[in-house]
Amino acid sequence: MTTISIRRPDDWHLHLRDGAALKAVLPDTAARFARAIVMPNLRPPVTTTALALAYRQRILQAIPAGMQFEPLMTLYLTDNTSADEIVRAKESGMIHGVKLYPAGATTNSDSGVSNLGHCVKALEVMEKVGLPLLVHAEVTDAHVDVFDREKVFIDKIMRPLLQKFQGLKVVFEHITTKDAADFVIAAEDHIAATITAHHLLMNRNAMFTGGIRPHHYCLPVLKREEHRQALVNAAISANPKFFLGTDSAPHARSAKESSCGCAGMYTAHAAIELYAEAFDAANALDKLEGFASIYGANFYGLPVNETNITLQKTAWTVPESIPYDGDVLVPLRAGQSIAWKLA
Ligand code: NCD
Ligand code: ZN
Repeated sequence: MTTISIRRPDDWHLHLRDGAALKAVLPDTAARFARAIVMPNLRPPVTTTALALAYRQRILQAIPAGMQFEPLMTLYLTDNTSADEIVRAKESGMIHGVKLYPAGATTNSDSGVSNLGHCVKALEVMEKVGLPLLVHAEVTDAHVDVFDREKVFIDKIMRPLLQKFQGLKVVFEHITTKDAADFVIAAEDHIAATITAHHLLMNRNAMFTGGIRPHHYCLPVLKREEHRQALVNAAISANPKFFLGTDSAPHARSAKESSCGCAGMYTAHAAIELYAEAFDAANALDKLEGFASIYGANFYGLPVNETNITLQKTAWTVPESIPYDGDVLVPLRAGQSIAWKLA
């Protein structure tokens, strides 16, 4: 197969940043996706409905003329998020999820949750009004090996959480392990997961090929090959619990190529093309549309998109860098080729 058409996809996990950075990255996403769940880990974080609605306006203003894109906003959960704030978020009609960052787990997570026990009131209302909890599922304990943090989170946090809030809709974000895939498969239908293109395409060797590769460092960190294979199997299984979330997370080159480099890969420039490569490699291009364009919308209770995109199997070379707020970004596959191209 050399050409496929699918319903226009949506990105159910995206970092758009703000200001000049937002303007630099948004066109890449808007060229491919109709909508995206926009992560709230700005500085300061998007902790209230008022902040989320103001951020939404800034995103709308940054959409280039002639392009269509709908940002789906999220709130950043803290120890102090009130039940009233959740009600306001739901009533706004613009906020589609509440993001749980364990404090210190990743970029701009310092204001995250120190103990979920502080969030009971907020979680009760979310369960009641049907506002999903989007989970960065890694423990932060310094003594837990970085490659085990997702697996440990499942038993220590996720299982007790789902036991306590049995009706809460949960998205296990950017799963990276067989443990997480198996957990989601076995869970109730209102538990879903996003999977990134980079975790489908690379294992942890990619961080060390010929030397240390800061642009292949993200959180949760790349895992062993057996985990990558489990993620591919989940993504191509046509199980509606698994859907597309790029976790495209731009950082300036100077912040990545550093003695203490930031976590995050930029994939928005070629996101659906990279997923097409991963599905093609698994002989499962016929499963791409469900994963990219249908299951996520169904989970979030939104209509599927009515227009299409076309992808062609034509190799193209990714630019070495992309201008970014006075610096540059190094996109995934910089200077190398991608097998699929957006028509
Ligand atoms: C994200 C970022 O840079 O905001 N980084 C990443 O490695 N994925 C944060 C996150 O989603 O963990
Ligand atoms: Zn993310």
